[in-house]
Amino acid sequence: MIRATQLHKYYGDLQVLKGVNLHIKSGEIVSIVGASGAGKTTLLQLLGTLDKPTIQNNSSLYIDGTDVLTLNDKDLSKFRNLNLGFIFQFHQLLPEFTALENVCIPAFIAKKSKIETETEAKRLLDYLGLKDRINHKPGELSGGEQQRVAVARALINKPKIIFADEPSGNLDTQSAEHLHQLFFKLRDEFGQTFVIVTHNEELADMADRKLVMKDGNIMV
Ligand SMILES: Nc1ncnc2c1ncn2[C@@H]1O[C@H](COP(=O)(O)OP(=O)(O)OP(=O)(O)O)[C@@H](O)[C@H]1O
Ligand SMILES: [Mg+2]
Repeated sequence: MIRATQLHKYYGDLQVLKGVNLHIKSGEIVSIVGASGAGKTTLLQLLGTLDKPTIQNNSSLYIDGTDVLTLNDKDLSKFRNLNLGFIFQFHQLLPEFTALENVCIPAFIAKKSKIETETEAKRLLDYLGLKDRINHKPGELSGGEQQRVAVARALINKPKIIFADEPSGNLDTQSAEHLHQLFFKLRDEFGQTFVIVTHNEELADMADRKLVMKDGNIMV
């Protein structure tokens, strides 16, 4: 599902990724752990096509068979909207829209029908324990509630791959466990692939495979 070869990333003189090679199978749940500053977020951003690697000899990134490094910005945005979902610690919800509207936006961008989208959005919000909060705007929700809205938004288009950076970072133990269960349930039901950066030991160990990053590379 994801095949990365020789991914490098420099910020000026600082070499953050030093030729990462990675193969993630369809339906696999992979966790990425490692010390602060090891390059986890940077790698996730590259794999999620939100940032571009510093191209060197042999750099390549294939996602579901698509050579994403060769796509132009417009095609890349479309590819991302249809295939990839993102859950970040800083969730970037749109403040002027309600929870329900925030969840629906990626589906409307993909030109899906309003009724179907709203039904699915409500189902997801309900599952995530937000049934009574769907008409509230982010400013009227707690941090954990906002996080769960962002999770529903990431899932609305049933993306093939979900990239999560500290997805349970803002959640209490119970909500975090519920979210982790949802990841496995989705994988079992829809065969979705998950790449999860986390400092949560329990979540990291639940994954099919745990990758440890150190000094800009994956330890083997
Ligand atoms: N835009 C940027 N410009 C310059 N340096 C950056 C930039 N983004 C990240 N870095 C540096 O790259 C290194 C790796 O950062 P990254 O965010 O990938 O770490 P991380 O493993 O996700 O850490 P954490 O666990 O703290 O989130 C750090 O030294 C960071 O300071
Ligand atoms: Mg990080």
